[in-house]
Amino acid sequence: MSDKSTKFWDSSTEKTCIFIEISIMSKNLILEQENQVGWITINRPDQLNALNRETIAELHQALLDFRENANIGVVCITGAGEKAFVAGADIKEFADYTNSEGGALAATGQAILFNYIEQMNKPVIAAVNGFALGGGLELAMACHIRIASSNARMGLPEVSLGVIPGYGGTQRLPQLIGRGRANQLIFTGEMINATQANSWGLVNSVVEPAELKQEVMALAAKILKNAPNALEKAITAVNAGFDGISQGFNVEIESFAACFGTPEFRMGTQAFLRKEKANFRG
Ligand code: COA
Repeated sequence: MSDKSTKFWDSSTEKTCIFIEISIMSKNLILEQENQVGWITINRPDQLNALNRETIAELHQALLDFRENANIGVVCITGAGEKAFVAGADIKEFADYTNSEGGALAATGQAILFNYIEQMNKPVIAAVNGFALGGGLELAMACHIRIASSNARMGLPEVSLGVIPGYGGTQRLPQLIGRGRANQLIFTGEMINATQANSWGLVNSVVEPAELKQEVMALAAKILKNAPNALEKAITAVNAGFDGISQGFNVEIESFAACFGTPEFRMGTQAFLRKEKANFRG
């Protein structure tokens, strides 16, 4: 683990701020914290960051730690190297699996990683920096927001391997881009480029590779201005809409109601009435 702090001038607040960076290496991940943004970099570049079971378990632990860390308000996931975000589940690992092992792989992965990300208590952004294929695209789709670099390539090529997407791809891709386009991508197994992904709504925006981190940090900074509890409730309500639309409206009402009377609600509304901006994170 290494700690380093750098002073920088924040022109928006006109103050000198201290930027604290903490880096922790695990076997397959690099974990860093910059200000209140937790970065998870999947670090198997020789294997194009393919998700083996060990990496999935480490990702779960990292997300659990970031979830509990009150100093982290936004989580970002990316891949090491310049070539891949994640090129899929590790084909070398599952090539000899039986039906029940395949089923367990999908069920465990969905529970501890993909659904876990979607249900995180703070926004999770995918910085898609290259190939996002199969489980890699499924990982990006489980995140709340996707920003891609212009060299990104996305697809679900599982049928070319004689299998189907098993980490939520058949569900989240139609939700994001519509059934027809999702069927086209799933049935052909073809990749699309970042421009196409952007025009289909699969990613929120596309930037040059050198600008990806800066773009994600700028987006995170906007999110970090807002109330943590309200962000968590917003995630819950948006997710509930995909469990059935009437369920979504009911959860929205409950989540909306639960915000009233909280310290951050008082802080936000009182600041507005004083014509000031609330500072939720101190
Ligand atoms: N699982 C395991 N290993 C993978 C992998 C995956 N999903 N994707 C890439 N790798 C490995 C390759 O086997 C190779 O390892 P090796 O050097 O030990 O042989 C290494 O990563 C580099 O990949 P390579 O295929 O040589 O790179 P490339 O530039 O020629 O092609 C891709 C890049 C992404 C087009 C190609 O690697 C690919 O098609 N990967 C599989 C994508 C996929 O089907 N994903 C869905 C899995 S369910």
